Amino acid sequence: MAGVVMKDIRKAYGQVKVLHGIDLDIKQGEFVVFVGPSGCGKSTLLRMISGLESITGGEMYIDGQLVNEVPPSRRGIAMVFQSYALYPHMTVYDNMAFGMRIARESRDEIDRRVRSAAEILQLTPYLDRLPKALSGGQRQRVAIGRAICRDPKVFLFDEPLSNLDAALRVATRIEIAKLKEQMPDTTMIYVTHDQVEAMTLADRIVVLSAGRIEQVGAPLELYERPQNLFVARFIGSPAMNIIPATVTGTGEATMVSMKGGKSVRVPVATGTSEKGKAASFGVRPEDLSVATGEDYLFEGRISIVEALGEVTLLYIEGLADREPIIAKIPGILDVTKGETIRFSADPRKLHLFDAEGKTFRI
Ligand SMILES: Nc1ncnc2c1ncn2[C@@H]1O[C@H](COP(=O)(O)OP(=O)(O)O)[C@@H](O)[C@H]1O
Ligand SMILES: [Mg+2]
Repeated sequence: MAGVVMKDIRKAYGQVKVLHGIDLDIKQGEFVVFVGPSGCGKSTLLRMISGLESITGGEMYIDGQLVNEVPPSRRGIAMVFQSYALYPHMTVYDNMAFGMRIARESRDEIDRRVRSAAEILQLTPYLDRLPKALSGGQRQRVAIGRAICRDPKVFLFDEPLSNLDAALRVATRIEIAKLKEQMPDTTMIYVTHDQVEAMTLADRIVVLSAGRIEQVGAPLELYERPQNLFVARFIGSPAMNIIPATVTGTGEATMVSMKGGKSVRVPVATGTSEKGKAASFGVRPEDLSVATGEDYLFEGRISIVEALGEVTLLYIEGLADREPIIAKIPGILDVTKGETIRFSADPRKLHLFDAEGKTFRI
């Protein structure tokens, strides 16, 4: 099975350690997305799978074979980069055929693969064009087509859409989603810092930070059940609000140090609910709602209103000396800057983290 298995993968450039032991088991046909802040090691890890970067420690298996010392050309992978690097003097057809000609494939086989890739990527009408006569999105599709022609077992993408403008990015993302449907047996590993790409394309997301895996899970699993503060803040936009809290007894925790904050009972796992322990609540902007009665969580002054039509973002100040809390309310709201407003949230939607940032609610 053409999965990718990593065992304690490490990377150092001289004395500088970049990856600190990555364990990951990617199944054949899975679409896995690596996300994380710039510099966390996403590209390095992808390049180590491809063979473009040497492996300092650990074991890398592709299709069951240990590939640590196997050159890129023999790993059965194809890679698509941010910059598509097409040959400017060659037609779309020739750009896609080039690698196969070098590999001395037969003319018929080359033609079959180029036409099949062009069909998948809706490039058939453009096969005779030169790259300069294509849009950025079409050029990137040619680069993807060139990779498909190699008939890879594992497809690697490093931020393939980040050079495209917003509209083309959306269109090309949808093409990649279709590609995944049409190549169900091909393992795909995709690096991005774009949340929407990660959430919409991935079967599983791997969240990386500073050379370590923070969490691996299905997109909505990460959204609904982040294991720690890093993942909680990284997945979702605007980011989850974090509010200081104190555990007040077994089986509950109460919000503190927030002017206008009420206590709220949140069920917590037994054994982790020592009284007096510092903790923090997390509440997503979209899980806050405007409260009308006395049954509210906290109140605060609106410092900024961002009316986007489909949603209104409210920035709330006056809650101790912390950053503003952001609430995301559906639709258009009749509120003005400076007003004091009350919010409530379903306690089941509250997240709870201990002093080390680990989740401890049930
Ligand atoms: N060739 C190199 N030599 C030294 N350090 C490098 C090299 N390539 C990458 N790094 C460092 O490794 C870290 C991870 O880089 P990278 O994998 O490119 O991050 P990402 O793709 O997540 O933005 C960064 O701190 C970067 O500076
Ligand atoms: Mg990178």
